[in-house]
Amino acid sequence: MRTQVAIIGSGPSGLLLGQLLTEAGIDNVILDRVGKDYILGRVRAGVLEEGTVWLMDKAKSGARLHAEGLPHDGFSLAFDGRDHRIDLHGLTGGKRVMIYGQTELTRDLMAHREQSGGLTIYDAANVCPHEFEGAAPYITYEKEGIAHRIDCDFIAGCDGFHGVSRKSVPAKAIRCFEKIYPFGWLGLLADAPPVNHELIYANHPRGFALCSMRSMTRSRYYIQCPLDEKVENWSDDRFWDELRRRLPAHHAEALLTAPSFEKSIAPLRSFVTEPMRFGRLFLVGDAAHIVPPTGAKGLNLAASDVHYLFSGLAEHYQDHSNAGLDAYSAHALARVWKAVRFSWWMTTMIHRFPDTGDFDQKIQEAELDYLTHSRAASTALAENYVGLPF
Ligand code: APR
Ligand code: PHB
Repeated sequence: MRTQVAIIGSGPSGLLLGQLLTEAGIDNVILDRVGKDYILGRVRAGVLEEGTVWLMDKAKSGARLHAEGLPHDGFSLAFDGRDHRIDLHGLTGGKRVMIYGQTELTRDLMAHREQSGGLTIYDAANVCPHEFEGAAPYITYEKEGIAHRIDCDFIAGCDGFHGVSRKSVPAKAIRCFEKIYPFGWLGLLADAPPVNHELIYANHPRGFALCSMRSMTRSRYYIQCPLDEKVENWSDDRFWDELRRRLPAHHAEALLTAPSFEKSIAPLRSFVTEPMRFGRLFLVGDAAHIVPPTGAKGLNLAASDVHYLFSGLAEHYQDHSNAGLDAYSAHALARVWKAVRFSWWMTTMIHRFPDTGDFDQKIQEAELDYLTHSRAASTALAENYVGLPF
């Protein structure tokens, strides 16, 4: 088989890129090692920047997002037993974020791909990119025991943190930067109305807590936990009790609970790969970088990578110029590092670190106080939270 762009990975990065290419008349094939149901079973953050919504529209996949997504104009930073509202809309001159689950966004992209006849090969085993340093790259894989080959012009490595694309690059050609945080997030999904109409990021002596939502009837809550914590040790009741203790009293009293239908622990990590291009192989999204979920930047960074790569590919095929492809890595990394910095900063500001001494604790408190009382500081937070421009 032959295609113009072979895309490894059918997560949000691969699907969004595939859809933009298809809309532009550029032939592409997506391969994933797992099936559709498995991909749609993953639970991830759901805060979309306006740029991500714009790209979904450009990919003609934004209709349900506009109908069902919840536009949010602000969020609460809770500490000292009170809410301190960050007025995203007022501070950024009218910008807001959209609350819409990543699972739903993925579902919309998959549905649109099926309608537009794009080819996705699910359950592809041993996917492997070859010869991407030369002019004629190809991909090999196996499906139901039979070996296949796809020749292509370019390979997009959209296969997440554990994918094969980054691992295929010679060690001497790549540099990785990593920071592991000394705690995780225990998350719970339940069909209960959210405790507040906006998200609450709570800093508390017992640890961080986040109140988020998927809709007005489905809530997503998180509490900071030790890295070695086990989900089995957390009954729903224990989770609700701990969450209540970390929230201001009026929220704790208002919290409505329901049986959970998902509970899991995620470690927190910052990770960046440089460069993001190796000849005709381009790394996109989680394959190239990971951020802790605190600023909800993971999916939005994947979207900006897709924007830069799609623009470069469109320029290559339509204008016969490689300028955009040549600039891909530098453009994407400039935005990635700013989001990595923001996610690291927000994580540092609202979690309790196991080894924090009295001095560091006082600095954290001063930072929160400054942030919520200085318009300049709040504006910097809001500007980053709604998303820096592409
Ligand atoms: N071969 C083929 N497919 C693979 C391979 C492989 N060896 N390894 C991984 N994949 C597939 C996975 O099965 C998955 O469906 O690649 C896809 C990668 O999807 P994601 O992990 O969702 O990564 P990405 O599309 O970049 O999405 C970024 O996901 O983790 C969140 O915070 C992150 O929201 C951000 C978004
Ligand atoms: C979520 O809804 O899962 C969520 C929201 C905001 C975050 C992280 C996760 O910062």
